[in-house]
Formats: sequence, structure tokens, C-alpha cells
Amino acid sequence: VLVIGIGVGDPAHLTVQAVRALGRVDVFFILDKGKDTRDLVALRRQLLGEHARPPYRVVPVADPLRDRQAAQYPAAVAAWRGRRVDLWERLLREELGDGECAAFLVWGDPGLFDGTLSILQEVLARGIVEFDYEVIPGISAVAALAARHRVVLNQVGGAVQITTGRRLTQGWPSGVDDVVVMLDADGAFTRLDDQDDLDIFWGAFVGTPDELLVCGRLSQVAAHIQELREQARRRKGWIMDTYLLRRIARRQDGG
Ligand SMILES: C[S@@+](CC[C@H](N)C(=O)[O-])C[C@H]1O[C@@H](n2cnc3c(N)ncnc32)[C@H](O)[C@@H]1O
Repeated sequence: VLVIGIGVGDPAHLTVQAVRALGRVDVFFILDKGKDTRDLVALRRQLLGEHARPPYRVVPVADPLRDRQAAQYPAAVAAWRGRRVDLWERLLREELGDGECAAFLVWGDPGLFDGTLSILQEVLARGIVEFDYEVIPGISAVAALAARHRVVLNQVGGAVQITTGRRLTQGWPSGVDDVVVMLDADGAFTRLDDQDDLDIFWGAFVGTPDELLVCGRLSQVAAHIQELREQARRRKGWIMDTYLLRRIARRQDGG
């Protein structure tokens, strides 16, 4: 089983390693998370058309629905993951012949905010299907964002933390001046104190024809970014955005 990172929207994000891997695959499992993410499925199909080597099979997989309103967030995620493990176990048992190669195409990089590896590990741990698996890294939203803004994520010798919008609303992480935020449904950046002391490098749909980029002092651009987010939601029905927040060094003399 190959877990192939495909980048975050630009077909040219695919690495040479990923292109070679696509050419080895007999069965592609393509996850569909509903109508809002048709673009994501369309990109996967485009990549197969360009790089997969016939004959190959494509098995569409309807991702189990997740209860996003649940009060018990970890419990809801655990239940949803359990349903996914059941489904993937069945797919691997029924759709993959002995000695065949399957692939999951993962948005961005499989090593960042993605459940594919842990689900495969859980399937293996159950011991019902046996397989080996390999990970092909991809360009993450973080790497794509930094490149489009032509910015380095960390300041000299400093740390950078990658976190979620949900965590950021609980407070600025200690010990870092640079924070990358993903999975932010509600615009957590608008609720930060000290917006005059932060720069933001924001990007939505990075790498796609719908790409939006804004950077500047948070106090000056936060409202504009929120407006762009709302417009994008109205236009497309969904949004995926990532941003770097950078605390600005204040000079000792107060300048
Ligand atoms: C479930 S995570 C997947 C991350 C992915 N594995 C990666 O390496 O980037 C989804 C989040 O990634 C970010 N994201 C994915 N694609 C993006 C894009 N094209 N532009 C901006 N952010 C993106 C958003 O923060 C989104 O909420």
C-alpha cells in the first residue's frame, strides 16, 4: 500500500518520487468527503489521468460522515475513525488481490494533520489483512504557503509551532514567536490580543486557481481576511486556508 502525498492543489506539486509511485499502482482508493470537496477529488482524478499506468482500477470511497457538532469532540473523532478503520479493512480485503499494489492519495503531506497512516496502522493491528506500506512525502499547505509568500517560517535560530485554529483560541502557545495555523473554521486570528504586535501571512486555496494571499500587520488586515473568507465560503461553499502568525521583535529602546 502506497500512501502518496499529492501536494495541496497544484498538479505540479507532485514530486518525481510520487509520479513514479503512481505508475506502480493497480488500485487507487479515492476518498470523497462530499460535494464541498469535489475539487479535491477532481485533482486526484487529473493526476491519475496524467501519471497512472493503465490498466488500473479506481475505487471511490465515500468517507464516513463525522459529527462536527458533537459536544464531545474527541469521542466523536474516535467514533468516526473507528468507522473508517472498518471501511478500509473491508476495502483492502475485498478490492486488492495478492501481490497487487494499492494507493491512497493524501492531500499535502501524509505526515501532517492526516489520519491515513494511523488508520492503516490500526487495520494492520487487527491482523485480518496483511500488507506492507510505504509513504511518499508531499508538499504540505505549510510549505506551499511559505513559498507563495516567499517567507521563512522560523526566525533565526527560533522555533515555529504548527497548530490548529481550535488550539489558538485557547491562547498563544508559550515559547514561540512564530505559529502556523491550520484547520481554522472560525478565524481564530480575529480573537487574538496584541494584533499590533503580529504579522500574518495568510493563504487560501494555495496552489489552485482560486488562490488568495494576504500579508500585513494583523490589526490592519484581519477584517479584510475575514471578508475574503466569507466571500470564498459563499462562492465555493467551503474554504481551506493556512496562515503564519509572527510576533514582531520590539527594539529594546522602545522603537
Ligand atoms: C486535514 S489538514 C491536511 C493537511 C495536509 N496533509 C498538508 O500537508 O497540508 C487540512 C488543512 O490543511 C490546510 N490546507 C490544505 N490545503 C490547503 C491549501 N491549498 N491552501 C491553504 N491551506 C490548505 C488548511 O488549513 C486545511 O484546513
